[in-house]
Amino acid sequence: MSLPTSTVQADPQWWRRAVVYQIYPRSFADSNGDGIGDINGIRERLPHLAALGVDAIWINPWYPSPMKDAGYDVSDYRDIEPVFGTMADAEALIAEAHAAGIRVVLDIVPNHTSDQHRWFTAALAAAPGSPERARFIFRDGRGVDGSEPPNDWMSEFGGPAWTRVTEADGTPGQWYLRLFAPEQPDVNWDHPDIREEFEQTLRFWFDRGVDGFRIDVAHGLVKDEDLSDINGLPFPLPDDTPDGVEHPHWDQPGVHDIFRSWRRVADSYDGPRVFCGEIWVGRDHRLTAYLRADELHTAFNFNFLMAPWLAAPLRATISSTLAAHVAVGAPATWVLGNHDVCRPVSRYARPQELLQPGFPNLQPYLALPADIEAGRRRARAAALLSLALPGGAYVYQGEELGLAEVEDMPAEARQDPIFAGTGGANVGRDGCRVPLPWTPTGDSYGFGPDGGAPTWLPQPAEFGELAASVQDGDPASVLTLYRTALKLRAGHPALGDGELEWLEAGDAVLAFRRDPGFACWVNLGSEPVALPDGATLLLASQDLIDGRLPADTAAWLAL
Ligand code: GLC
Repeated sequence: MSLPTSTVQADPQWWRRAVVYQIYPRSFADSNGDGIGDINGIRERLPHLAALGVDAIWINPWYPSPMKDAGYDVSDYRDIEPVFGTMADAEALIAEAHAAGIRVVLDIVPNHTSDQHRWFTAALAAAPGSPERARFIFRDGRGVDGSEPPNDWMSEFGGPAWTRVTEADGTPGQWYLRLFAPEQPDVNWDHPDIREEFEQTLRFWFDRGVDGFRIDVAHGLVKDEDLSDINGLPFPLPDDTPDGVEHPHWDQPGVHDIFRSWRRVADSYDGPRVFCGEIWVGRDHRLTAYLRADELHTAFNFNFLMAPWLAAPLRATISSTLAAHVAVGAPATWVLGNHDVCRPVSRYARPQELLQPGFPNLQPYLALPADIEAGRRRARAAALLSLALPGGAYVYQGEELGLAEVEDMPAEARQDPIFAGTGGANVGRDGCRVPLPWTPTGDSYGFGPDGGAPTWLPQPAEFGELAASVQDGDPASVLTLYRTALKLRAGHPALGDGELEWLEAGDAVLAFRRDPGFACWVNLGSEPVALPDGATLLLASQDLIDGRLPADTAAWLAL
């Protein structure tokens, strides 16, 4: 089946410069009042996305799921979770988005299934050593009676990465690997059934007109043959790691073969069908190894997301990102947030010199004082920076409203398995997943109809004043800033894919030129700075002061 006739077919290289809007469907818009967002809610809000001016949407998993990890525990890859709607709703959304010129990217979860997937229930029912178990990673335990996990690998959500099963005769049995929640067993990518199943799943959705996939935990699929112990090896591996030293379950060299095969599937379709990898590997050259011409099209640039709001490290990460991407001919992406990390407003609200390297969900930030107004200024400037850099950009729902992380959610409201898995030591990711405000009043600020069930995560009172309808038409709002920036970006020949040239503007300023005739200046210092003579202001993230660029402000200039 080919795409419906629409503007989405126009540019075969669209993914090299696209602005992709991430929809977390549980929290975007609730059409039926059950407190959980759904596909028809997305359909109703397509005008918001069209007015924003995004090129594509990426929708987090919408497949049938017991929801032990908000849909990242998939029990059937080729159907729709009833809470989100029906296959007919999904097909209507794809058609309507395409008609609005918006491409549709889904989220595929190939590292693990749900423990309710038919293959895993069959594996549990079958005996050790059976063909059913071979599709997952079952091993005997170590120690007396096999009562210790098979190796020292740890779950991302806390505790050992292994769960012990009870065999059919009632005795404690083998262990299975699960790098995330116990309900998310890792599959065995050495098994031909797994390869076949996922390629069929890609085709299933490509046949329904889907334009691409975000690939969950793309760097995790292949495990070291011997499942050898980690023995304290850090990950990401440090920059000076000698060649040949590999982590036993992240970024194993064998993973590339899987994506070469996926690329052949994508390339067998008319119209570009594209991939974006979720790949946390640290070192740039290991990221861009996934972006060689016969592998993935793009990958999230998490180094940019993790960089503090300080000129030197930001410039360094931008430069090294671009150099590594140019080397493989792939476009960079610029990412400020997603459903796993603390919202940028709240990250940038912290004293940036005090940030420690590490996974940027809310927990590490809680110990640092927050100046949310400063965070908002910086997030506005960061938006203009990210949209001016060469390549594509991602906007996570709510960034266009300037939402901050919800930091004070009561423990009993928290749903993220990280919270329970760490015994509350890590608050987890719920604070960036709170349902969006669309209107200033109403039971759920317009997220769902009045009189419906409470929202699945509670919304804070300040969400009302940040609602989309409040910001609509307000020239000073974050929403207006994003709309204006996206419109300028779409129409400016210098923006999107291409190159940049750094300009000298002092240690606290990031300034670069893009041809023809465009410059971006970002003031990360504490004093206003002069802009270049003769430049015309196109857009700024705050008003200029006597023609000077204030602290924590970005400007787009015509040269
Ligand atoms: C990815 C997802 C995250 C999920 C995890 C396990 O990191 O973005 O939300 O919990 O994979 O699937």
